[in-house]
Amino acid sequence: MVRTYQHEPFTNFKDEKNQELFQEALSYVNTQLGKTYPLIINGERIETDEKTTSINPSNKKEVIGYVSLANQELAEKAMNAALEAFVDWKKWKAEDRANILFRAAAMLRRRKHEFSAYLVKEAGKPWNEADADTAEAIDFIEYYGRQMLELTKGQPVNSRPGEYNQYNYVPLGVGVIISPFNFPLAIMAGTAIAAIVTGNTILLKPADATPVVAAKFVELMEEAGLPKGVLNFIPGKGSIIGDYLVEHPKTRFVSFTGSREVGCRIYERAAKVQSGQIWLKRVIAEMGGKDTVLVDRDADLELAASSIVYSAFGFSGQKCSAGSRAVIHEDVYDEVVEKVVSLTKTLKVGNPESVDTYMGPVIHQASFDKIMKYIEIGRTEGDLLVGGEGDSSNGFFVQPTVFGNIHQDARLMKEEIFGPVVAVCKARDFDHMLEIANNTDYGLTGAVLSNTRANIERAREGFHVGNLYFNRGCTGAIVGYQPFGGFNMSGTDSKAGGPDYLLLHMQAKTTSEMF
Ligand code: SER
Repeated sequence: MVRTYQHEPFTNFKDEKNQELFQEALSYVNTQLGKTYPLIINGERIETDEKTTSINPSNKKEVIGYVSLANQELAEKAMNAALEAFVDWKKWKAEDRANILFRAAAMLRRRKHEFSAYLVKEAGKPWNEADADTAEAIDFIEYYGRQMLELTKGQPVNSRPGEYNQYNYVPLGVGVIISPFNFPLAIMAGTAIAAIVTGNTILLKPADATPVVAAKFVELMEEAGLPKGVLNFIPGKGSIIGDYLVEHPKTRFVSFTGSREVGCRIYERAAKVQSGQIWLKRVIAEMGGKDTVLVDRDADLELAASSIVYSAFGFSGQKCSAGSRAVIHEDVYDEVVEKVVSLTKTLKVGNPESVDTYMGPVIHQASFDKIMKYIEIGRTEGDLLVGGEGDSSNGFFVQPTVFGNIHQDARLMKEEIFGPVVAVCKARDFDHMLEIANNTDYGLTGAVLSNTRANIERAREGFHVGNLYFNRGCTGAIVGYQPFGGFNMSGTDSKAGGPDYLLLHMQAKTTSEMF
């Protein structure tokens, strides 16, 4: 029997032995930098003339790898490979597919620090964030393997005398997986694996900024026994192969995680039925957030301040779950803001290769520029309390930044920045706090710090987000414990790491036999 799912524990980096092991992994990855990575189509390695250069966001001069880029012809080749592989893969027993996942999870667990070290180098993640990313990837693989074993039992339906009815799930077809830079291992692996274990075959287009860690994962899946053509690795520019594959008549579904802008574009383009297309495409989209931490007048104020700070600045605020707004009851506003500012001042910003760095760089120049633009907007919308500086001379570093006295309708309160900037807003009472909490287009995560039971229950009902947390921060959902996904412009209400996620990759078939 498969052992009961439990999430992967995080590594304790206070332990010197773990520090040594992680340093060793970083040293090993340093010896691997600058390699070239091919596309993988039907198991065939294809190197292209055009390559993208993946760099270290802490040190722009350091090349992580050179990665081949697919053009439309190669995307078409990958589509054909996936279509062909689907014929056989869809017939595999769920148990056999799940067994490949369980093996892959064991292999990834053994190479955990190596993968995390790639995340430090390629995504600029501090050690604990990288470790959590790898742990989450292992969790997705373990959890979806088990979920598939459950699903294969089908759902109970009634049968009348002389009749036998069954209700089972079958795969969809070829899926296009477009994954983000911010969880370059966990979300990439989770979205790919969910599609595969359910019997589909896929074309994986990783984020432009983080293709190397994806390439390493694809190699690992091959070693774990995934047959050729099931997972085709095709990094490529969105403008060249993105729309092409989304619009392709043989694409059965698209699983996307990334910005609202791109998500909406995919949703619209996938909706148009193309010549030769015989189904309506399904889109799974996980988009942005403008997530709020609420602090009630009777909250534990130390906990409130740390919840605000760590939700805002974990991985430099580059999580769709990041708490980029704090709404504080006016009675405790000054005290909480003071604690937030002093805690923020203690955060160490720098190269994430150092164990004591709390916050590394942001991902690239475009992101740095966008964040700095919002910092300028913030200066006109409120009081800059701490931070506000950026330096992109060697890497893309932005200081953790807090703006106070921001109006509830200010741009800083409404627009997703995806960087280490938090807007703080004062509220009159709990009604006002809830009103502000729901005043964006998004609905992903939220947190409420309160010791009033009635207010907690009011928020449970009235704070319209997919993941709502009480008396803690609003990031760090755990697979199988806090299924993750949001409402409104945060996406298609799909819950990654939840009991109904795999169903989004399948369709139900009813059979009825008369005896
Ligand atoms: N699942 C992550 C979190 O909860 C965000 O993608 O922080």
